[in-house]
Amino acid sequence: MTRKSNRIFSGVQPTNNLHLGNYLGAVRNWVRMQKDYECIFCVVDLHAITLWQEPAALRQNTREVAAAYIASGIDPDASIIFAQSQVSAHAQLAWILNCVARLGWLNRMTQFKEKAGKNRENASVGLYAYPVLMAADILAYKGTHVPVGEDQKQHLELARDIAQKFNHDYKVDFFPLPEPVIGGPATRVMSLRDGAKKMSKSDESDYSRINMTDDADTIALKFRKAKTDPNALPGPESLDERGEVKDEALAARPEAFNLLSIHAALSDASLSETVNRFAGMEFSRFKGELTDLAVAKLGPINSEMKRLLSHPDEIDALLRKGAQRAQTIALPVLRQVEEIVGFLH
Ligand code: TYM
Repeated sequence: MTRKSNRIFSGVQPTNNLHLGNYLGAVRNWVRMQKDYECIFCVVDLHAITLWQEPAALRQNTREVAAAYIASGIDPDASIIFAQSQVSAHAQLAWILNCVARLGWLNRMTQFKEKAGKNRENASVGLYAYPVLMAADILAYKGTHVPVGEDQKQHLELARDIAQKFNHDYKVDFFPLPEPVIGGPATRVMSLRDGAKKMSKSDESDYSRINMTDDADTIALKFRKAKTDPNALPGPESLDERGEVKDEALAARPEAFNLLSIHAALSDASLSETVNRFAGMEFSRFKGELTDLAVAKLGPINSEMKRLLSHPDEIDALLRKGAQRAQTIALPVLRQVEEIVGFLH
């Protein structure tokens, strides 16, 4: 990536609690990028209402995600932090892109299938069109790189397809094709109760995830109760020659490797270093070490979030300022798109 021509865009939905997966898979990686690139980080409240949200809770969660960004180390002066609904270009561009995206493309989206569940007829139209809004989020800023967790990969491929089809249909070289940035040992943090399921805000068991608002005792309790297997921790025999976990080892002990990946990410180590370090240790001891590490890393973020959230007016003002800055980038892009499409000005 070269410094000047790149623009980073990413976002988190303000639904329920922000958890360790969101932090390790996304937000933490953003903190590093803001030093070298122009960054725009959005609290995607338009996305949140694709599933029912209690209005008061949505407001609170929007502030909470903004507070988590800042407490994690995003500098609101260096980067742009804002709420999606405060920049109307997102919804306006999404409509135009709805007319570019194809039904067949959306029909392939696995996250819609998961979220709509069995009762698909009753899912909102917004939930179905959601990936197009996500493409609009990025393309309204001509975003070039999008740091996300593994689960957003398919949506980003769709964003690229939409950008490409727009350029092709209108015979322009207008939108860059945004590239996913998915890396590190924790691109897919799994549930603490079931190593086959992703850690998620919507899991009904709170024991399945570490929330960014959990205190030290809760973190300790959740790791203590985390599902494991009866054996000691795996060692180097589980790694291939590139230092990656062998497929069969991962399939046999998903919970063990999930906890190891969390430790690796929190301690800025690679997974292979972490596997070698804890090879043969009893889970009870390892869980104690993991708890100490998580509390040391998340504790300061947790207390800074609390401090920020005790001044909601300041967060609201900061988001409004961010929206104004975002608008100065997105509006000219939208105007150009309208021109390309043939709307009068
Ligand atoms: P959301 O709110 O579900 O998640 C926010 C970010 O956290 C990552 N993530 C995870 N990473 C690792 N392990 C997990 N268990 C885990 N769970 C979530 C997600 O990959 C994501 O990076 N559609 C997006 C929000 C969005 C967006 C955008 C992102 C809207 N517009 C434009 C990038 C660019 C979403 O629902 O993320």
